[in-house]
Amino acid sequence: MKKTDSLKNWEGIACVIGIDWGDSGKGRLIDNLAARANIVARFNGGSNTGHTVKNNYGKFALHIIPSGIFNQKAICLIGRGVALDLESLVDDEMVQLKSAGVSWKNLRIDQQATIVMPWHKIRDGIREELRGGAKIGTTKRGVGPTYADRIERQGLRAKDLYEADFKDRLKEELDFQNKIFSLKLSFKEILETFTRYSKVIKPYVTQTIPLIKEAKSARKNILFEGAQAYFLDIDFGTYPFVTSSNTGVLGIWRSFELYPTEINHVIGITKAYMTRVGSGPMPSKIEGEAREIIIEKGGEIGTTSGRIRDPGWLDLVLLKAAVEANKVNHMAMTKIDVLTGFKTIKVVTGYKIGSKEAGYISGDASYLAKCQPVYQTLPGWQQDISSVRNFKDLPKNAQNYIKTVENFVSIKVDFIGVGPARGEEIYV
Ligand code: IMP
Repeated sequence: MKKTDSLKNWEGIACVIGIDWGDSGKGRLIDNLAARANIVARFNGGSNTGHTVKNNYGKFALHIIPSGIFNQKAICLIGRGVALDLESLVDDEMVQLKSAGVSWKNLRIDQQATIVMPWHKIRDGIREELRGGAKIGTTKRGVGPTYADRIERQGLRAKDLYEADFKDRLKEELDFQNKIFSLKLSFKEILETFTRYSKVIKPYVTQTIPLIKEAKSARKNILFEGAQAYFLDIDFGTYPFVTSSNTGVLGIWRSFELYPTEINHVIGITKAYMTRVGSGPMPSKIEGEAREIIIEKGGEIGTTSGRIRDPGWLDLVLLKAAVEANKVNHMAMTKIDVLTGFKTIKVVTGYKIGSKEAGYISGDASYLAKCQPVYQTLPGWQQDISSVRNFKDLPKNAQNYIKTVENFVSIKVDFIGVGPARGEEIYV
């Protein structure tokens, strides 16, 4: 793709990763870009993520299934780094797709993906309750405990469902979990449930890494769909208020053995403002009337958890850190229409701790909590922009807002979301 071409015509290997705290509309962008994809692949996270897709088939909240599933010609992969929540996959998402007449015959699940078991969800809840003051505010989808067991080399993987000794392994693990965590989970019930799940997913369980390698050799278009966002990354985010996977380009390598420099288009997505759900510092958090307006207009209530997301002004220090660390070369900005009507809009252009200038240090929430934002105030716009399809037709102040962001982070905004539905967007 030439530099001047639109992202709409992308080719090669692309990924969409959040460069904020998530909930930036990845689902709708993926749904869009997936039209050109031969493969769409999820590489991290589990059912803690909620990717909302609105298209000709209807409105969907996907958690595990890649948002590219609606392009029935694209193979959709669930990589081995995904915490495989079969309850969500089979009893929720497949039901949603079925009722809309969408086939998932193009789905492939990595045989090494670790399964989220009922005890993981329970442990997630117990852990949170016992955390005392510094609760993380997890989604209680069992994602942290699932990854913890994988690291402890105890996780059951998709392929294990079909092994002759599965029953024994399940029994051994269940006994352990019941004992250590004082649970009373029934072996019979869990066996029945997972036998049912295993039958449903069997046709789709395979090795996904060779599929990526073959597609790469054949120069097919591959699109990686990130979940959550960079500041929730287990290593580079605001630890401990993070999720338990690598949410940036590193996660792609871990799931698919595809080195980050092989990715042609690293698309960093953010909203035109930020939100954070769960605990942890957000220097640009908005209080008062503006907060209420953004929550209301932006529908800032979690797809997965139903929790209200805290809004903040766009933090350019953070965006720049995410862009540099992931070598982001395209930016996508969604929900700019939500900012319509504000007289002025602020962006963060620096931090101070006391009188000293500060920057972002990854992996340390307590450091970020000390950072005081330095704001630049920009003039807002009043005109409805939801029907605008060309950058030059945006109000001058909206153009100026986007240019200010571009100048600060030194890359272009190539996609602007001006409304939630398919088509309500500008490809620059
Ligand atoms: P967990 O991933 O459920 O363990 O939650 C850890 C933190 O990440 C909490 O603050 C969650 O609110 C946040 N989180 C997890 N998934 C998402 C997401 O998809 N969007 C936004 N925040 C998320």
